[in-house]
Amino acid sequence: MPDRTDLNRRTFIQTTAAAIAGGSLLALDSTPGTQAAVAASHRGGSRPIVISSMNGHNRPKGRPASCIEEAMAILKSGGDPLDAVIAGVNIVEDDPDDTSVGLGGLPNEDGVVELDSSVMHGPTRKAGAVAALRGIRNPSKVAKLVMTRTDHVLIVGEGALRFARAHGFKEEDLLTEESRREWLKWRESHSDNDDWLSPESDTQTGSHAVGRRRWRHTYGTINCCAVNSNGDIAGVTTTSGLSYKIPGRVGDSPIIGAGLYVDNDVGAAGSTGRGEANLQNCSSFLVVELMRSGKSPGEACMEVMKRIADRTEPRLRGKQGRPAFNLRLYAVAKDGSYGSASMWSGPRAQFAVNDEKGARVEPCAFLFESDGTEVD
Ligand code: GLY
Repeated sequence: MPDRTDLNRRTFIQTTAAAIAGGSLLALDSTPGTQAAVAASHRGGSRPIVISSMNGHNRPKGRPASCIEEAMAILKSGGDPLDAVIAGVNIVEDDPDDTSVGLGGLPNEDGVVELDSSVMHGPTRKAGAVAALRGIRNPSKVAKLVMTRTDHVLIVGEGALRFARAHGFKEEDLLTEESRREWLKWRESHSDNDDWLSPESDTQTGSHAVGRRRWRHTYGTINCCAVNSNGDIAGVTTTSGLSYKIPGRVGDSPIIGAGLYVDNDVGAAGSTGRGEANLQNCSSFLVVELMRSGKSPGEACMEVMKRIADRTEPRLRGKQGRPAFNLRLYAVAKDGSYGSASMWSGPRAQFAVNDEKGARVEPCAFLFESDGTEVD
């Protein structure tokens, strides 16, 4: 039996499809279907709370807690919210079976794992980040040191590695056998110009995403944000980024305002999925700004998702004019209310929550019903 939320979503999807056929996504803003779907995504309101992308609910082999469980335990023992979320995502960074983050992350096109991460600490309004960092499995810890032990916000590449070494981080080969085998498959079958565009591709609808060669990239990532019982907020995003990327490619995760944003007066937002879309739309910053202007976390995430869909360039659209990639936004407000929006439905359109009701996953609101062609 479909519940009210499902029915609202169906209405929304039908309305969305009609609007796309009519060539306008922005026109959706005033439709009843949209409002109903967005209203259904208003949730929560207790503190402390931790939210994360879905992989924050996994308990890796041999670990007693998931990311959201670990972060909540630290919040409840009076720990700082940034220490809580970093300790949480460290579990995922250390997990070789999560191929989107830290150890075992899928590598760049040369077979080298390059990691990105950012952190934001609401009470001090400070931020730190690293990008294209090689050989260090916990970039989130290095990002925090950039925040606390330098006058900078972002350090990249060789400089980030030297900075990590100076702080005693151990270097290791982050490419696991599984990730190496996946990379080799990609090299052997799909490596021709996945990211390198011809001059014509700019104007061709779907030529990159659904053209002769299907994308074999994945995005992954973990974002985790928390509000403690006093209403102090922090967030972290950490990732191995787009698999098989051009070496040195930096996604949204380490860019403050794109893959993460925290404002201690308002709330926090973060993202997983196609980083380029967030970079072009300052998505996390925009979600927080929309919450500041009165939107619920769910409403803010959905409004930004629609804006991204509307502004997607032709080559990244599939046959029906919809974005051929996936993206998820997660947000939590200072009062502990939370929400999420996904570009597409599907088994991965979920996010993790830990609050007074315990640790669980919940469905994201979504913009389009999956037809299996989008790249996740
Ligand atoms: N959102 C992760 C990335 O695009 O790098």
